[in-house]
Amino acid sequence: MTCSAAGGKTPTALRTTLKMQKLCTSPLRGEPGLCLMSPPPPECTFIILDKRRWTDSGSEEAQCMIGDVNFFLSDPEDLSLAELEIMIAEPDYRGKGIGKEVTQMMMHYGVAKLGINKFQAKIGLDNEVSISMFKKLHFHQVSVCQVFKEVTLETTVDESLRRRLLRQVGHMTERDYLAARGGRRQAASQAATGAPA
Ligand SMILES: CC(C)(COP(=O)(O)OP(=O)(O)OC[C@H]1O[C@@H](n2cnc3c(N)ncnc32)[C@H](O)[C@@H]1OP(=O)(O)O)[C@@H](O)C(=O)NCCC(=O)NCCS
Repeated sequence: MTCSAAGGKTPTALRTTLKMQKLCTSPLRGEPGLCLMSPPPPECTFIILDKRRWTDSGSEEAQCMIGDVNFFLSDPEDLSLAELEIMIAEPDYRGKGIGKEVTQMMMHYGVAKLGINKFQAKIGLDNEVSISMFKKLHFHQVSVCQVFKEVTLETTVDESLRRRLLRQVGHMTERDYLAARGGRRQAASQAATGAPA
């Protein structure tokens, strides 16, 4: 799969992915706050939510979505190799450090939970923003495919990558998504009926 500058999913497509089981939260330097939700691998998709909207129990879940991040364990012979894709679908949320932080969260999850030891990203040759982001995350170019007009970037998990990921996202906490959603619904119905919290 290749990541194009326009991104591959519309908000409607995102909504259809709203079948998730887990939630991680990140203070993201207090701005704007993210929640990630996921089904299990071999395709592992997390929906990225705006935590500020999410904590307002009056907001529809779908209105909180700002993008998604995926792993594809595309080589059945090597389940330690993950292809990464990320999209911040809402343009207003781009360029605020969210893409970089979410990618690092996803990499940390992959290393810690799934034993991933190599990450790849296939990116359209003209997608300078994404190429620049992955290079800042210590990915390096391994090949260019002129036919598909894409570049493959890669990084191997070693001690220094583990330390970097731990430094960047080690402070984040993982929470059960369904439990958090249940609490949110309860707050919304209490607000609607005027019952005390
Ligand atoms: C590519 C994408 C995920 C980056 O996420 P983002 O939240 O906008 O990026 P961040 O703010 O975290 O910035 C990360 C890096 O991207 C690069 N970058 C971000 N905005 C940029 C811009 N306007 N111009 C050039 N480089 C830019 C920089 O290298 C930046 O690192 P820095 O902040 O240390 O300078 C996002 O823009 C996006 O979803 N684009 C559309 C879909 C896509 O291209 N997906 C990627 C395919 S895998």
